[in-house]
Amino acid sequence: MSVHETGSWVDAAWERTAAKIARNAAEIGAHFPHASFNGVYNSCPPHDWGAGFWPGLLWLVYRETGDELLRQTAEQLEARLGETLTAYDELHHDVGFMFSLSSVAQYKLVGDPVAKRHGLMAANLLAGRFNVNGSFIRAWPDWDGEDHSGWAIIDCMMNLPLLYWASEEIGDPRYKQIAMRHADMALREFMRPDGSAYHIVCFDPETGARQGAIAGQGYAADSAWARGTAWALYGFALSYRYTAQERYLDAAKRAAHYFVSRLPSDKAPYWDFLLPDTADMPRDTSAAAIAAAGLLEIAAHCIETDGGFYRTAAADIVRALDEKYGAWALAEQGLLLHATGYYAKDSNVDVPIIYGDYFFAEALFKLRGGAALFW
Ligand code: GLY
Repeated sequence: MSVHETGSWVDAAWERTAAKIARNAAEIGAHFPHASFNGVYNSCPPHDWGAGFWPGLLWLVYRETGDELLRQTAEQLEARLGETLTAYDELHHDVGFMFSLSSVAQYKLVGDPVAKRHGLMAANLLAGRFNVNGSFIRAWPDWDGEDHSGWAIIDCMMNLPLLYWASEEIGDPRYKQIAMRHADMALREFMRPDGSAYHIVCFDPETGARQGAIAGQGYAADSAWARGTAWALYGFALSYRYTAQERYLDAAKRAAHYFVSRLPSDKAPYWDFLLPDTADMPRDTSAAAIAAAGLLEIAAHCIETDGGFYRTAAADIVRALDEKYGAWALAEQGLLLHATGYYAKDSNVDVPIIYGDYFFAEALFKLRGGAALFW
Protein backbone atom coordinates (compact mmCIF):
# COMPACT_ATOMS: atom_id res chain seq x y z
CA MET A 1 0.00 0.00 0.00
CA SER A 2 1.37 3.39 -0.94
CA VAL A 3 1.18 6.49 1.23
CA HIS A 4 0.05 8.30 -1.89
CA GLU A 5 -3.67 9.00 -1.77
CA THR A 6 -4.09 11.15 -4.88
CA GLY A 7 -7.59 11.64 -6.15
CA SER A 8 -9.06 11.34 -2.70
CA TRP A 9 -10.04 13.76 0.04
CA VAL A 10 -6.31 14.36 0.52
CA ASP A 11 -6.01 16.21 -2.77
CA ALA A 12 -9.07 18.31 -2.01
CA ALA A 13 -7.71 19.21 1.44
CA TRP A 14 -4.32 20.04 -0.04
CA GLU A 15 -5.91 22.31 -2.67
CA ARG A 16 -7.83 24.16 0.05
CA THR A 17 -4.63 24.50 2.05
CA ALA A 18 -2.51 25.72 -0.86
CA ALA A 19 -5.17 28.25 -1.86
CA LYS A 20 -5.32 29.68 1.65
CA ILE A 21 -1.55 29.90 1.94
CA ALA A 22 -1.40 31.79 -1.37
CA ARG A 23 -4.10 34.19 -0.11
CA ASN A 24 -2.28 34.61 3.20
CA ALA A 25 1.01 35.32 1.40
CA ALA A 26 -0.62 38.35 -0.20
CA GLU A 27 -2.21 39.45 3.11
CA ILE A 28 0.52 38.62 5.64
CA GLY A 29 3.64 39.06 3.54
CA ALA A 30 7.06 39.09 5.22
CA HIS A 31 5.81 39.12 8.82
CA PHE A 32 5.89 36.23 11.27
CA PRO A 33 2.30 35.14 12.01
CA HIS A 34 1.77 33.31 15.28
CA ALA A 35 -1.81 33.04 16.58
CA SER A 36 -5.05 34.11 14.97
CA PHE A 37 -7.68 36.21 16.76
CA ASN A 38 -10.88 37.26 15.01
CA GLY A 39 -9.66 35.71 11.82
CA VAL A 40 -6.35 37.57 11.56
CA TYR A 41 -2.90 36.36 12.54
CA ASN A 42 -0.88 38.46 14.98
CA SER A 43 2.89 38.60 14.57
CA CYS A 44 5.80 37.38 16.63
CA PRO A 45 9.36 38.76 16.47
CA PRO A 46 11.85 36.99 14.18
CA HIS A 47 13.68 35.43 17.15
CA ASP A 48 10.50 33.78 18.43
CA TRP A 49 10.55 29.98 18.46
CA GLY A 50 7.65 29.93 16.01
CA ALA A 51 9.18 32.22 13.39
CA GLY A 52 10.11 29.38 11.02
CA PHE A 53 6.64 27.97 10.47
CA TRP A 54 5.38 30.62 8.06
CA PRO A 55 8.43 30.37 5.76
CA GLY A 56 8.11 26.59 6.11
CA LEU A 57 4.50 26.74 4.91
CA LEU A 58 5.47 29.02 2.02
CA TRP A 59 8.23 26.65 0.91
CA LEU A 60 6.00 23.60 1.26
CA VAL A 61 3.39 25.09 -1.07
CA TYR A 62 5.99 26.66 -3.36
CA ARG A 63 7.44 23.20 -3.97
CA GLU A 64 4.17 22.17 -5.55
CA THR A 65 2.90 25.33 -7.19
CA GLY A 66 6.06 27.26 -8.08
CA ASP A 67 4.24 30.48 -7.08
CA GLU A 68 6.96 33.14 -7.14
CA LEU A 69 5.23 35.32 -4.54
CA LEU A 70 5.61 32.51 -2.03
CA ARG A 71 9.29 32.11 -2.82
CA GLN A 72 10.00 35.85 -2.63
CA THR A 73 8.16 36.16 0.68
CA ALA A 74 9.99 33.15 2.14
CA GLU A 75 13.32 34.60 1.02
CA GLN A 76 12.55 37.93 2.72
CA LEU A 77 11.66 36.07 5.90
CA GLU A 78 14.85 34.02 5.73
CA ALA A 79 16.92 37.20 5.49
CA ARG A 80 15.18 38.59 8.60
CA LEU A 81 15.80 35.33 10.46
CA GLY A 82 19.47 35.50 9.43
CA GLU A 83 19.75 38.84 11.25
CA THR A 84 18.78 37.18 14.54
CA LEU A 85 21.94 35.07 14.49
CA THR A 86 23.91 37.92 16.04
CA ALA A 87 21.27 38.49 18.77
CA TYR A 88 22.66 35.59 20.79
CA ASP A 89 20.99 36.59 24.07
CA GLU A 90 17.54 36.54 22.44
CA LEU A 91 17.99 33.08 20.96
CA HIS A 92 17.32 29.64 22.42
CA HIS A 93 17.37 25.99 21.39
CA ASP A 94 14.46 26.48 18.99
CA VAL A 95 16.85 27.73 16.34
CA GLY A 96 16.28 24.17 15.12
CA PHE A 97 12.61 24.83 14.37
CA MET A 98 13.39 28.32 13.05
CA PHE A 99 16.24 27.57 10.69
CA SER A 100 15.27 24.08 9.49
CA LEU A 101 12.06 25.42 8.01
CA SER A 102 13.57 28.62 6.59
CA SER A 103 17.30 28.55 5.84
CA VAL A 104 17.72 24.79 5.40
CA ALA A 105 14.52 24.59 3.36
CA GLN A 106 15.68 27.48 1.16
CA TYR A 107 19.09 25.95 0.67
CA LYS A 108 17.64 22.57 -0.20
CA LEU A 109 15.02 23.92 -2.58
CA VAL A 110 16.85 26.73 -4.38
CA GLY A 111 20.49 26.15 -3.42
CA ASP A 112 21.03 29.54 -1.76
CA PRO A 113 24.58 29.57 -0.25
CA VAL A 114 23.75 32.37 2.22
CA ALA A 115 20.80 30.39 3.55
CA LYS A 116 23.10 27.38 3.94
CA ARG A 117 25.54 29.52 5.94
CA HIS A 118 22.68 30.71 8.18
CA GLY A 119 21.66 27.11 8.80
CA LEU A 120 25.20 26.15 9.75
CA MET A 121 25.57 29.17 12.05
CA ALA A 122 22.31 28.23 13.76
CA ALA A 123 23.58 24.65 14.18
CA ASN A 124 26.68 26.06 15.87
CA LEU A 125 24.56 28.12 18.25
CA LEU A 126 22.51 25.03 19.05
CA ALA A 127 25.61 22.90 19.60
CA GLY A 128 26.96 25.63 21.89
CA ARG A 129 23.99 25.08 24.22
CA PHE A 130 25.12 21.53 25.00
CA ASN A 131 25.83 20.82 28.66
CA VAL A 132 28.63 18.25 28.62
CA ASN A 133 28.13 16.87 32.14
CA GLY A 134 24.36 16.50 31.81
CA SER A 135 24.35 15.49 28.11
CA PHE A 136 21.48 17.90 27.44
CA ILE A 137 20.94 20.91 25.23
CA ARG A 138 19.91 23.85 27.36
CA ALA A 139 16.47 25.06 26.26
CA TRP A 140 16.12 28.73 27.10
CA PRO A 141 17.94 31.77 28.42
CA ASP A 142 16.92 32.90 31.92
CA TRP A 143 13.71 34.88 32.29
CA ASP A 144 11.19 35.91 34.96
CA GLY A 145 13.94 35.65 37.56
CA GLU A 146 14.32 31.91 36.83
CA ASP A 147 17.68 30.27 36.31
CA HIS A 148 17.28 28.02 33.27
CA SER A 149 20.87 26.90 33.00
CA GLY A 150 19.91 23.31 33.87
CA TRP A 151 16.60 23.08 31.97
CA ALA A 152 15.93 20.83 29.01
CA ILE A 153 12.56 20.24 27.35
CA ILE A 154 11.06 17.45 25.24
CA ASP A 155 10.36 19.86 22.34
CA CYS A 156 14.11 19.92 21.67
CA MET A 157 13.83 16.56 19.93
CA MET A 158 12.55 18.54 16.95
CA ASN A 159 15.62 20.80 17.02
CA LEU A 160 18.02 17.90 16.55
CA PRO A 161 17.52 17.54 12.77
CA LEU A 162 19.38 20.85 12.32
CA LEU A 163 22.41 19.21 13.94
CA TYR A 164 22.11 16.02 11.90
CA TRP A 165 21.80 18.11 8.73
CA ALA A 166 24.88 20.18 9.63
CA SER A 167 26.96 17.04 10.15
CA GLU A 168 25.90 15.62 6.81
CA GLU A 169 26.39 18.95 5.05
CA ILE A 170 29.97 19.55 6.13
CA GLY A 171 31.02 15.94 6.66
CA ASP A 172 31.82 16.39 10.34
CA PRO A 173 30.19 14.14 12.97
CA ARG A 174 30.41 16.61 15.89
CA TYR A 175 26.86 17.93 15.51
CA LYS A 176 25.40 14.45 15.12
CA GLN A 177 27.30 13.31 18.21
CA ILE A 178 25.71 16.10 20.26
CA ALA A 179 22.28 15.32 18.84
CA MET A 180 22.63 11.65 19.76
CA ARG A 181 23.88 12.46 23.25
CA HIS A 182 20.81 14.64 23.77
CA ALA A 183 18.47 12.03 22.25
CA ASP A 184 19.85 9.32 24.54
CA MET A 185 19.47 11.64 27.52
CA ALA A 186 15.84 12.29 26.50
CA LEU A 187 15.21 8.57 26.16
CA ARG A 188 16.53 8.03 29.67
CA GLU A 189 15.23 11.09 31.50
CA PHE A 190 12.06 12.20 29.67
CA MET A 191 10.38 9.11 28.23
CA ARG A 192 8.19 7.03 30.52
CA PRO A 193 7.64 3.33 29.85
CA ASP A 194 4.06 3.94 28.67
CA GLY A 195 5.21 6.30 25.88
CA SER A 196 4.31 9.59 27.55
CA ALA A 197 6.97 12.20 28.32
CA TYR A 198 7.86 14.87 30.82
CA HIS A 199 7.83 18.39 29.42
CA ILE A 200 10.68 19.95 31.41
CA VAL A 201 13.48 18.14 33.23
CA CYS A 202 15.87 20.13 35.42
CA PHE A 203 19.51 19.18 35.95
CA ASP A 204 22.28 20.52 38.09
CA PRO A 205 24.13 22.47 35.39
CA GLU A 206 27.51 21.81 37.07
CA THR A 207 27.30 18.09 37.79
CA GLY A 208 24.59 17.16 35.29
CA ALA A 209 22.62 15.29 37.99
CA ARG A 210 18.87 15.10 37.37
CA GLN A 211 16.96 17.22 39.90
CA GLY A 212 13.38 16.56 38.82
CA ALA A 213 10.64 17.32 36.35
CA ILE A 214 8.26 20.26 36.27
CA ALA A 215 4.92 20.73 34.54
CA GLY A 216 5.90 23.38 32.01
CA GLN A 217 3.10 23.55 29.46
CA GLY A 218 1.54 20.37 30.78
CA TYR A 219 -1.11 20.05 33.48
CA ALA A 220 1.35 18.63 36.03
CA ALA A 221 4.91 17.37 36.17
CA ASP A 222 3.76 13.77 35.81
CA SER A 223 0.90 14.41 33.37
CA ALA A 224 1.14 14.07 29.59
CA TRP A 225 1.06 17.38 27.72
CA ALA A 226 -0.46 16.49 24.36
CA ARG A 227 1.91 18.55 22.23
CA GLY A 228 4.90 17.30 24.19
CA THR A 229 3.87 13.73 23.39
CA ALA A 230 3.69 14.71 19.73
CA TRP A 231 7.15 16.34 19.84
CA ALA A 232 8.53 13.11 21.33
CA LEU A 233 6.78 10.98 18.71
CA TYR A 234 8.03 12.96 15.73
CA GLY A 235 11.40 13.92 17.22
CA PHE A 236 12.50 10.38 17.99
CA ALA A 237 11.33 9.24 14.56
CA LEU A 238 13.57 11.91 13.01
CA SER A 239 16.53 10.84 15.12
CA TYR A 240 15.96 7.34 13.78
CA ARG A 241 15.95 8.63 10.21
CA TYR A 242 19.42 10.16 10.64
CA THR A 243 21.02 7.44 12.77
CA ALA A 244 19.20 4.14 12.08
CA GLN A 245 19.31 3.41 15.82
CA GLU A 246 16.34 1.17 16.64
CA ARG A 247 16.03 2.57 20.17
CA TYR A 248 14.85 5.88 18.71
CA LEU A 249 12.24 4.26 16.47
CA ASP A 250 11.04 2.19 19.43
CA ALA A 251 10.61 5.37 21.49
CA ALA A 252 8.75 7.08 18.65
CA LYS A 253 6.42 4.08 18.40
CA ARG A 254 5.78 4.05 22.15
CA ALA A 255 4.83 7.73 22.03
CA ALA A 256 2.68 7.05 18.94
CA HIS A 257 0.70 4.28 20.64
CA TYR A 258 0.21 6.42 23.73
CA PHE A 259 -1.01 9.32 21.60
CA VAL A 260 -3.28 7.41 19.23
CA SER A 261 -4.87 5.20 21.90
CA ARG A 262 -5.90 8.21 23.97
CA LEU A 263 -7.47 10.32 21.24
CA PRO A 264 -11.13 11.21 21.56
CA SER A 265 -13.39 10.08 18.70
CA ASP A 266 -12.87 13.34 16.78
CA LYS A 267 -9.08 12.82 16.89
CA ALA A 268 -8.30 16.18 18.50
CA PRO A 269 -6.77 15.69 21.97
CA TYR A 270 -7.45 17.92 24.92
CA TRP A 271 -4.32 19.93 25.67
CA ASP A 272 -3.12 17.32 28.19
CA PHE A 273 -3.94 13.61 28.10
CA LEU A 274 -4.21 13.38 31.91
CA LEU A 275 -6.56 16.22 32.78
CA PRO A 276 -8.64 15.22 35.80
CA ASP A 277 -11.75 16.66 34.13
CA THR A 278 -12.07 17.61 30.47
CA ALA A 279 -15.30 19.60 30.86
CA ASP A 280 -14.70 23.10 29.42
CA MET A 281 -11.14 22.19 28.53
CA PRO A 282 -9.88 23.23 25.10
CA ARG A 283 -8.47 20.88 22.50
CA ASP A 284 -5.07 21.21 20.95
CA THR A 285 -5.42 20.49 17.26
CA SER A 286 -1.75 21.44 16.75
CA ALA A 287 -0.76 18.35 18.75
CA ALA A 288 -2.86 16.19 16.44
CA ALA A 289 -1.29 17.74 13.33
CA ILE A 290 2.27 17.27 14.66
CA ALA A 291 1.50 13.68 15.61
CA ALA A 292 0.05 12.97 12.16
CA ALA A 293 3.20 14.25 10.44
CA GLY A 294 5.28 12.18 12.88
CA LEU A 295 3.19 9.03 12.38
CA LEU A 296 3.93 9.30 8.66
CA GLU A 297 7.64 9.57 9.47
CA ILE A 298 7.40 6.37 11.53
CA ALA A 299 5.45 4.64 8.74
CA ALA A 300 8.20 5.52 6.27
CA HIS A 301 10.68 3.51 8.37
CA CYS A 302 8.52 0.44 8.91
CA ILE A 303 8.06 -2.69 6.92
CA GLU A 304 4.80 -2.66 5.00
CA THR A 305 2.57 -4.54 7.44
CA ASP A 306 3.82 -2.66 10.48
CA GLY A 307 3.72 0.74 8.74
CA GLY A 308 0.04 0.38 7.92
CA PHE A 309 -1.01 1.12 11.50
CA TYR A 310 0.90 4.42 11.63
CA ARG A 311 -0.13 5.49 8.14
CA THR A 312 -3.78 4.77 8.79
CA ALA A 313 -3.68 6.55 12.14
CA ALA A 314 -2.12 9.61 10.47
CA ALA A 315 -4.66 9.65 7.65
CA ASP A 316 -7.54 9.31 10.14
CA ILE A 317 -6.25 12.26 12.16
CA VAL A 318 -5.66 14.52 9.16
CA ARG A 319 -9.05 13.69 7.68
CA ALA A 320 -10.79 14.43 10.98
CA LEU A 321 -8.88 17.71 11.32
CA ASP A 322 -9.83 18.69 7.78
CA GLU A 323 -13.50 17.85 8.24
CA LYS A 324 -14.09 19.01 11.81
CA TYR A 325 -11.45 21.64 12.51
CA GLY A 326 -10.52 23.08 9.11
CA ALA A 327 -11.30 26.81 8.89
CA TRP A 328 -12.49 26.56 5.31
CA ALA A 329 -15.81 28.36 5.29
CA LEU A 330 -14.76 31.22 7.55
CA ALA A 331 -13.07 34.59 7.12
CA GLU A 332 -10.03 33.21 8.90
CA GLN A 333 -6.34 33.22 8.00
CA GLY A 334 -5.64 30.10 10.05
CA LEU A 335 -6.02 26.64 8.57
CA LEU A 336 -6.84 24.75 11.76
CA LEU A 337 -9.18 25.93 14.50
CA HIS A 338 -8.81 25.08 18.20
CA ALA A 339 -5.11 24.86 18.87
CA THR A 340 -3.84 25.64 22.37
CA GLY A 341 -0.47 27.26 23.00
CA TYR A 342 0.04 27.51 26.77
CA TYR A 343 -3.12 26.86 28.75
CA ALA A 344 -1.76 27.65 32.23
CA LYS A 345 -0.62 31.10 31.09
CA ASP A 346 -3.82 31.71 29.15
CA SER A 347 -1.67 32.27 26.10
CA ASN A 348 -3.11 31.45 22.65
CA VAL A 349 -5.82 29.15 23.96
CA ASP A 350 -8.32 27.60 21.53
CA VAL A 351 -7.25 29.57 18.45
CA PRO A 352 -5.50 28.80 15.16
CA ILE A 353 -1.71 28.77 15.70
CA ILE A 354 0.88 28.78 12.95
CA TYR A 355 2.59 25.53 13.96
CA GLY A 356 -0.72 23.65 13.86
CA ASP A 357 -1.18 24.97 10.34
CA TYR A 358 2.37 24.05 9.33
CA PHE A 359 2.17 20.43 10.50
CA PHE A 360 -1.32 19.98 9.06
CA ALA A 361 0.03 21.04 5.66
CA GLU A 362 3.15 18.90 6.08
CA ALA A 363 1.06 15.84 6.92
CA LEU A 364 -1.12 16.42 3.85
CA PHE A 365 1.98 16.86 1.75
CA LYS A 366 3.35 13.55 3.00
CA LEU A 367 0.02 11.76 2.58
CA ARG A 368 0.18 12.75 -1.10
CA GLY A 369 3.54 11.02 -1.39
CA GLY A 370 5.88 13.97 -0.78
CA ALA A 371 9.02 13.41 1.28
CA ALA A 372 9.51 15.68 4.29
CA LEU A 373 12.54 17.49 3.00
CA PHE A 374 13.11 20.22 5.56
CA TRP A 375 13.78 18.33 8.81
N1 GLY B 1 7.93 24.53 21.73
C1 GLY B 1 6.91 25.26 22.36
C2 GLY B 1 5.56 24.69 22.21
O1 GLY B 1 5.36 23.61 21.73
O2 GLY B 1 4.63 25.36 22.62
